[in-house]
Amino acid sequence: MLNYREVNEDDFPLLENLIGRCLDEVCQKFYDDKQVELLTLDKVYGEAFQEINESRHQYVLYPNDDKKDIQAYVTFYRNSIWHLYVSPDHIGEGLGKKLLSFAEEGIMDLGYHFAKVNSSLNAKEFYKSQGYVEYEGKEAKSTIHMFKHLTKSK
Ligand SMILES: CC(C)(COP(=O)(O)OP(=O)(O)OC[C@H]1O[C@@H](n2cnc3c(N)ncnc32)[C@H](O)[C@@H]1OP(=O)(O)O)[C@@H](O)C(=O)NCCC(=O)NCCS
Repeated sequence: MLNYREVNEDDFPLLENLIGRCLDEVCQKFYDDKQVELLTLDKVYGEAFQEINESRHQYVLYPNDDKKDIQAYVTFYRNSIWHLYVSPDHIGEGLGKKLLSFAEEGIMDLGYHFAKVNSSLNAKEFYKSQGYVEYEGKEAKSTIHMFKHLTKSK
C-alpha cells in the first residue's frame, strides 16, 4: 500500500540521497560528466531544498505506514512538473506513473488544462508513454520540452 504526503524538512537528507542516486545510477548514462555535475548542483543542493516555503507543491510516496521512508518524489509549480524521481530500487514498478498522475490531478485542481515538463534525456520515453509530446523550446539541449493536455479521469 502506497501513500502520498507533503514533503517536510526532515525529508531533506532522504531526498538528497534519492535524487543523488537517480542522477548517478539512472541519468548519468545519458549525460556527460559536466552536465551531471550541473544537474547535481542545481537539483540536489539548490532549488530542490529551498522550495519548501514557496508556492511549490512537493509530495512523496511512502510505503505502508512508514512515513519516514520515501520511494518517490514529485514537485510541481503552477502547471510545470519540476522534479519527478523514483528510487532506483523501485524503477519500473509503476510509481513514476502513479505520482505523475497525482501531480497532474493537482495541476488540474489549480485550474490548468495542460502540464509542461523539461524532461531529462533518459525520461523522454516515460513521458511519451504517459501522453506527453515534444515541443520546441529555447533552453539548453540537456532537457526535452514536453507537454500534455489534461482531462479529468472519472
Ligand atoms: C523517469 C522515471 C520517473 C520513471 O518512473 P518509473 O516508476 O520507473 O516508471 P513506471 O514504472 O511508472 O513506468 C510507466 C510507463 O513508462 C514506461 N517507461 C518508463 N521508463 C521508460 C523508459 N526508460 N523507456 C521506455 N518506457 C519507459 C513503462 O514501460 C510504463 O509503461 P506502461 O504505462 O505502458 O506500463 C524514473 O525512471 C526516474 O526516476 N528516473 C530518474 C530521474 C529522472 O530522470 N526523472 C525525470 C526528471 S524530468
